[in-house]
Amino acid sequence: MYSEKVKKYFENPINMGIIEDADSIGIIENEICSDIIKIYLKMKDDVIIDAKFEAKGCPPVIASCCIVTKMIKNVNIEKAKKITANEIIEKLEGLPNEKIHCAELVIKTLRKAINNLK
Ligand code: FES
Repeated sequence: MYSEKVKKYFENPINMGIIEDADSIGIIENEICSDIIKIYLKMKDDVIIDAKFEAKGCPPVIASCCIVTKMIKNVNIEKAKKITANEIIEKLEGLPNEKIHCAELVIKTLRKAINNLK
C-alpha cells in the first residue's frame, strides 16, 4: 500500500522533536481523523536554519513531515512558501489517493508556521 520511502521515514523519522527557541510554530488538527501536526521553525534573517516536527498521525503524515522539514532547511522563506503537496508526494514515490490529503495537511501546517512568523 505504501512506497518503500514512506515506510522508511515512518519507521525511522528524521527531524522529529521540538525546537525550544523556535521563531514560529504551526499547528493543525484534522477534525476527521484527529491527527495533529506541529512544525517548528528557527530563522536567521529570512532563511529557515532549522525545522522540526511533532505529529500524532498516520504513516503518510509522519513521512511528509520528514520530507518537508528536510526540504525547507537552509531555504529562503519565499521559496519554502512555494513547496507543494505534489512535490512531497513525488519525493515519497507516491501516496494512495485516499492519503493525498495527509501531505496537503502537512503543507497547510508549514504555511501556518510561516504565517505565524513575527
Ligand atoms: Fe489523517 Fe492522514 S489519515 S491525516
